[in-house]
Amino acid sequence: MENELILKDIHKQSPDGVHLLNNINLNLSPGTKLSVLGPSGSGKTTLLRIIAGLESFDSGTLFFNGCSIKNIPPHKRNFGMMFQDYALFPHMNVFENIAFGLKMKGMDKPLIESRVKIMLEMTGLSKFENRHIDELSGGERQRIALARTLAPEPGLLMLDEPLSSLDRAMRTRLLTELTQIIARLKITTIFVTHDHEEAFAAGSRVIILNEGKIEQQGTRDELINAPKNQWVKDFLRMV
Ligand SMILES: Nc1ncnc2c1ncn2[C@@H]1O[C@H](COP(=O)(O)OP(=O)(O)OP(=O)(O)O)[C@@H](O)[C@H]1O
Ligand SMILES: [Mg+2]
Repeated sequence: MENELILKDIHKQSPDGVHLLNNINLNLSPGTKLSVLGPSGSGKTTLLRIIAGLESFDSGTLFFNGCSIKNIPPHKRNFGMMFQDYALFPHMNVFENIAFGLKMKGMDKPLIESRVKIMLEMTGLSKFENRHIDELSGGERQRIALARTLAPEPGLLMLDEPLSSLDRAMRTRLLTELTQIIARLKITTIFVTHDHEEAFAAGSRVIILNEGKIEQQGTRDELINAPKNQWVKDFLRMV
C-alpha cells in the first residue's frame, strides 16, 4: 500500500546483550497519527532512529510503500525527523534553514522560494523569513524546525520529544499549536513523548513502550479505561 509503514518483529540488542527493542510490530496506514509513549530509556528514540535508518537492527523487517527499506540509506528514505533540540543551523536565517534540505535535493531556486513561502505561511512564520535563529523564541524555533522538516515533503514525519526543551506554560500552548498543524497534514506522523497528555493530544493511537517492548497499544479511552496490567495503570497515573 502506498506510504504504508510496517514493522515486523524488530529486535535490537546492545553490544552487551541488553534488549533495546524486542518484538516490535507496527502497522501504520497512510495518514495515521501515532504517539509512542514510554518512560526514559524505554527505547523510543532507538525506535525512531531505526525507522529513519540512522541505527541498525538485528532482526525483523521494515517495509515502507510495500518494500523492505533495510538497505536504503537515511537520506534516500524521504522521512522527516525533528529532534528534541531542533538542530537548527545558527549561522543561517529562517529562510535558509527551511531551504536547506531543498537545496541539498538540487531543487531549482524559484521552486525553493515558493516551497519555503508555503512552509512559512503554514507555520505562521512569514514575517520571520530574514530573522536569525538566535533572535527567535523557543516556540518560534520549534515551528521553524517543523517547517524545515516538512519542506521536502517527507513520506513520514517523526517528532522526538518536540516540546521537552520548553517550560511548562509554553509546552501547553505549543502542544495545541503543534497538534493542530499535525492534524491538518495528510502525512503519517509518529510523535514520541514520555508525557501521556502530549501522547493523547498528538496521536489518535498510542503505543506504550516499556523496556523495549510494546506493553499496550490503543486509543486514549482504551488505554485509560482498560490498562492491561499494573505497570500500565501505574505509568498512566504517574505523570
Ligand atoms: N547505541 C546504543 N548502544 C547501547 N545502548 C544504547 C544505545 N542507544 C541507546 N541505548 C540504550 O537503550 C535504551 C533506550 O534508549 P533510548 O534513547 O531509545 O530511550 P528513550 O525512550 O528515547 O529515552 P528518553 O526518554 O530518555 O529519551 C537506554 O537504556 C539507552 O541507554
Ligand atoms: Mg529519547
